[in-house]
Order: sequence, then C-alpha cells, then structure tokens
Amino acid sequence: MPRRYPASHVLYRNLDREYPLIVRGSGCWLYDDAGREYLDACGGAYVACLGHGVPEVVEAVAEQVRKVAYVSGMSFTNEPAEALADELAELALGDLTRFYFLSSGSDAIEAALKLARQYWVERDRPGKSVLVALAPGYHGNTLLALAAGARDHYKKFFQPWLLEVPRVPAPYAYRCACRGADAACPRCSGRALEETLAWLGPENVAAFIAEPVGGSSTGASVPREDYWRTIRDICDRNEVLWIADEILVGAGRTGTWSALEPYGAVPDIQVMGKGLSGGYAPLASVAAPSRITDVLARGSRALLHAQTFSHTPALCAAGLAAVRYIRKHDLVSRGASMGPIFHQKLAALRGLPHVGDVRGRGLLAGIEFVADTDTRAPFPRGERFTERFQAAAERAGLMVWPNTGHADGVNGDLVVLAPPYIITEAEIDEIVTRFRSAIGDM
Ligand SMILES: Cc1ncc(COP(=O)(O)O)c(C=O)c1O
Repeated sequence: MPRRYPASHVLYRNLDREYPLIVRGSGCWLYDDAGREYLDACGGAYVACLGHGVPEVVEAVAEQVRKVAYVSGMSFTNEPAEALADELAELALGDLTRFYFLSSGSDAIEAALKLARQYWVERDRPGKSVLVALAPGYHGNTLLALAAGARDHYKKFFQPWLLEVPRVPAPYAYRCACRGADAACPRCSGRALEETLAWLGPENVAAFIAEPVGGSSTGASVPREDYWRTIRDICDRNEVLWIADEILVGAGRTGTWSALEPYGAVPDIQVMGKGLSGGYAPLASVAAPSRITDVLARGSRALLHAQTFSHTPALCAAGLAAVRYIRKHDLVSRGASMGPIFHQKLAALRGLPHVGDVRGRGLLAGIEFVADTDTRAPFPRGERFTERFQAAAERAGLMVWPNTGHADGVNGDLVVLAPPYIITEAEIDEIVTRFRSAIGDM
C-alpha cells in the first residue's frame, strides 16, 4: 500500500506526496523499509541532537515507563521531573532556575507568554498586555504562538483568531543594507526595539519574544555580539519582560548550552524544546527566575496553564536521560569544537550555483539560495526552489530543513543543517558531497 493520502488512513503533513517509511535510526542515519539510508543532517526538525538509537537513553525511558509512565502534575510530582529540574538548574543561565515542563515547543511558548502576562497582572499592572516580536521569526503553531511568529503564510486561514503582534525587524545581516557591519544600524544593533516600545508606550507592553540565534526563519543568522546586551538594557529601562525562544537553538545546538551564553545577557524567561530530549519523547521547558515565579506564588498560587501532559514522568525521563547523556559525554563541548570544522567544510558550498550565503554557529548552519548572488534577489516563490532542492536532497539521501518567505514575507529560499552533536568529519564531508549532487540533480 502506498504511504500517501488517501491510500493510508494517516492524515499526513502533506497530502500530496508519498512518504518513505522509516523503520530504524542509528547515529546520524535513518533507514527505511526499502533498505534506503538517509543522512539526517537536520536531526528531523532540529531534534535528534544525540543521534538516533542511543541505548542508555532508550533504557532510561523504558525503565521509567515500567515504574510509572504517567501521573497528573496536579496531584503528584515524580522523580524524573525533580531530577531534570535539578540538572537544568545546574546548567542554567543566570537566575533561570524554576522549570515548567510541557510536551511541545508551542505549548511552552504559550505558557511563557501567559507567564509574562500573569506576572504583570499579579503585580497590579493589568495595562501591560502587548507582545512584541521579531520579523522574520517563528514561535510555534498554536494560536498565541502563531500570532507571535511572523509567518503570514501559516496564518492565512486563521487571521480572525489571532492577536495583533507589533514587529521589530530581526537581526538578519544578509538581508540588511549594512550586512551586519554598522554598530548604529537600528536593525542589527537591536535599537529598533526601543523605537517600537516608545511608539507603543512601554506601559502597555508585557513582553518581547525572540530567538537568540535565528532558527529556520532567518536561516541561522547570528546577531552582532552586542545585540542581546542592548536588548537587555532596553527591556530593563522600559520594564518589558524579555522571553528567549531557545526551542531550536538551545540545549547545545550552537556550541553552548544556551545560545545566549556568548552574549553575556540573561533573559527573563527562556524556553527550550526539541534537542532537550533529543527526540526520545516530546518535551519542552519554560525556565523563569524566582523573582517572577514568587509573584505568582504570593498571588494566585499557580501558573494558569494546566495541561494533561505537563511534568509527565515518561517525558521528563527522556529529558533527564538526554541531558545526562549530553553532560556525561561532553557533547556541548564536542559540538563547539566540531562547529568550526563544520562551517569550514560547508564554506565549499558557497561556490555552488544559487548559493548566496552560508552562515551559522556551532552545529547549526543556514544556506540561503538566491536567483542573483550579486544583488541577493530571491527566486520568485512560484519557482519553489527550496521544495525542489529538498526533493533532490532526499533523492540523494540527505535530510535538510527547508524555509521559505524570509526575504520579503513571500519570496526567499533556504535550508538549514543541524546534525547530531556526534557527527564525524567524514559524515560532514558526506553532507557536502550529497548537497552538491542534489544541486546538480535539480
Ligand atoms: C524557534 C521555535 N519556536 C517554537 C517552535 C514550536 O515548537 P513545536 O513545533 O515543538 O511546537 C519551533 C518549532 O520549530 C521553533 O523552531
């Protein structure tokens, strides 16, 4: 039976293609039922950071499920949730040592945004309700998270249900006139946020949400080294909470546990997901400092965001096992030392037709395609360059993560690479080889 709609009962993500059936994963590789192998150069959706099939993580999850798979976070706490919070507190940036666990990034973004709003109301500042976010940017697909993101094509059918979120241009050097070089550029320095807050009236603003290093939306664009300290200062002076969405770039992806470490700036709320559990179970976390959570503890005594699978033992066990595995095998340092080798080898892609830019940090890289490498003019969306490249890459047995629309809201083509932290130099060479052959096969 073909694995496509409507032959299968599965309502697939895409109703217009046939899907390979993956039966096994090992390290950086996936295998389908026809015996084909795929080099998982993006960890699925930036998730499989430990690699596939790590026996000690599998065993830890199985052991917890045998003991107890589920208890409600309303009535009980459990060993993995307690131990995971302790591990994360040791890794925490600054004072971000209180953790709320949920089962997807979107859920955690919703919870983080609600936490910010609840904090202000409980501090007797109910006027602070506006959320401000970057464009391009992405924060998830549930309705508040979708509203916070700037992907208009995702919002097409749902606009009447979505909150209006004012935008600040994202630090995206390749698409800025100054190319990230001008310390005074409002966009690249972060000062554009100040103008937006002044226009909105900071007394009306609850929070500013942003990805510390660009994920899919700006294809691994890395802000200037002073960017986040400027944002911290602006948020402090305007009494606006800064929420760092590290769902994609956290948990070691960019060579440090938090992508913000090199910037020396600490947000008020931080969200992680994806690599946090390495995909061994769905998991995301919201981290906040006591100065925020104490306000709730003294007030309504709970974050008003209950979900059935918050703090679930089986999910927290996956996070605990993944985080312990990362620490035991020093995988964040490994990613940090492999990062420069990864980027040096990927630099070879710059010479390929239509490759406009190759950028990123640690084991995260964005490759942006353009119609004209001198003017940076994007392909018209109708050409579906990214989709055609992704299909060619899949034919070459290479998995990459696609993004479109970033150049001007409609046009723009890029792919992102985010391999497991255990990737070898030979496997990076294999990515480059397969990438070349995919471009040649378009
Ligand atoms: C930066 C960022 N935030 C939030 C999300 C939403 O996470 P999830 O897909 O787990 O709901 C994603 C997912 O890609 C993301 O990349």
